[in-house]
Amino acid sequence: MSRNQNQSEMDKIVSLAKRRGYIFQSSEIYGGLSSCYDYGPLGVELRKNIKEIWWNDIVTSRENVVGMDSGILMHPKVWEASGHVENFTDPLVDCKQCKNRFRLDKGVHKFKCTNCRMKFHVKDGKIGGRKKYRECFDDLTASEPESYVNSTCPRCGEEESIVLDKIACPKCGSADLTDPKQFNLMFKTHYGASEDSAHKIYLRPETAQGIFVNYANVANSARAKLPFGIAQIGKAFRNEVTTRNFIFRSREFEQMELEFFVRPQESQKWHKKWIESRLDWYKKIGIKEENLQLREHGEDELAHYAKSCFDVEYKFPFGWSELEGIADRQTYDLQQHIDHSGTKLTYYDQDKEEHIVPAVVESSAGVDRTMLTVLSDAYWEDEENDRVVLSLSPKIAPIKAAVFPLVNREGMPDLAREIFKDLQGDIPVEYDDGGSIGRRYRRQDEAGTPFCITVDSQSLEDETVTLRDRDSLEQIRIDKDNLLKEIKSRIE
Ligand code: GAP
Repeated sequence: MSRNQNQSEMDKIVSLAKRRGYIFQSSEIYGGLSSCYDYGPLGVELRKNIKEIWWNDIVTSRENVVGMDSGILMHPKVWEASGHVENFTDPLVDCKQCKNRFRLDKGVHKFKCTNCRMKFHVKDGKIGGRKKYRECFDDLTASEPESYVNSTCPRCGEEESIVLDKIACPKCGSADLTDPKQFNLMFKTHYGASEDSAHKIYLRPETAQGIFVNYANVANSARAKLPFGIAQIGKAFRNEVTTRNFIFRSREFEQMELEFFVRPQESQKWHKKWIESRLDWYKKIGIKEENLQLREHGEDELAHYAKSCFDVEYKFPFGWSELEGIADRQTYDLQQHIDHSGTKLTYYDQDKEEHIVPAVVESSAGVDRTMLTVLSDAYWEDEENDRVVLSLSPKIAPIKAAVFPLVNREGMPDLAREIFKDLQGDIPVEYDDGGSIGRRYRRQDEAGTPFCITVDSQSLEDETVTLRDRDSLEQIRIDKDNLLKEIKSRIE
């Protein structure tokens, strides 16, 4: 698929998301607030389903994981201890020519071969330059431009001959840039009426720290024994410099995080288990296996505290990208809070008769990114039947079934409404009597509704209705009293 096709696929998803009430640009009537989004009637249901399935899988169905909900505002020392004040930064440069400010790695990276003098550049992960040179690359792309440095020249074959010549502004092309300055990604605000620096606090950039600072409160009140986990779902905020690709990277987003506390010598074993379990979870919510992969972080990518980290990646329309990170964080987090707060956040190991600092295996997933994943994965165009379909798994689909009268007369609407009311208490259903039956089916196909129920003239005689499957288009005739059982069994 070419880049343009990829781009248009993303545009189609964005447009469907708006048309069907999944996702809207924030503050649209005022021109929009970039990288911030609002979730409409179907969006909020889909998010709720994703979070519920996650919570059920991580907390409810396990004996050794409990949940919590910490505040968005926390003591500023939390972020000193966690390393965010010092390390949660992006290097930014200003273009002296056009005043554009951008992240250094998003600049146009200009490379050359020291042997054959071939020149090329990388912009947005794509190679550019003279066509005859560009063709040497055989469509090679790299997400990190730095990874081209010291590679073998694809033109002359000389090893380790590619060097970075300069970095240029992606807007005007000038290489006259300021030195990089570190820009902290945490949103700052003031606590109380005073606006002095003593009252500066942050909107949390991750939910994880709310768990670590409450480690002792939760462990003691839940009488938890290692290994055990604490899970949390909540909003996080990052003043991202580079934002693109719809809700993939936004400034306000929601995380689903699990911090699983283990004996330090067992962290590798648990890390492996959680990687498997999390990958399985994405398959359980209907993501196609071929669009998922695991990627281990290289030494240079690893956060300073992590011993090992794997990303679950999804093949988005714009390429393979991180969906979730699963890290073996060792004892770093608790130890940092012990050192900074002076509080004993240890565990008494009865077998060894000593206090230990537990290690942590973290699974950190994004609700918004999962949402973009399920939408991208479910979207397809059924040219044969001239329709756009969101093949969402019935488990997460916002509306499970829609009920229609075939025509708005002869008592069909009365029976259809009665069926709708009967189902309403058990599953999310919608009633629709607007427009032709074909249009109504197409609307529900686009919205991702897996089943449509139609009341026709036969229904008035024998109380049977048609039940249509969104994906196969197969229709069966079924007694209206068996509908709920049939739909529930198909959802499972
Ligand atoms: N506690 C670890 C942590 O926060 P992270 O890799 O920075 O790790 C974890 O974030 C997950 O949160 C990501 O894999 C992604 O799903 C989600 N996420 C992070 N930044 C995001 C953003 N700006 N917009 C949407 N989702 C984001």
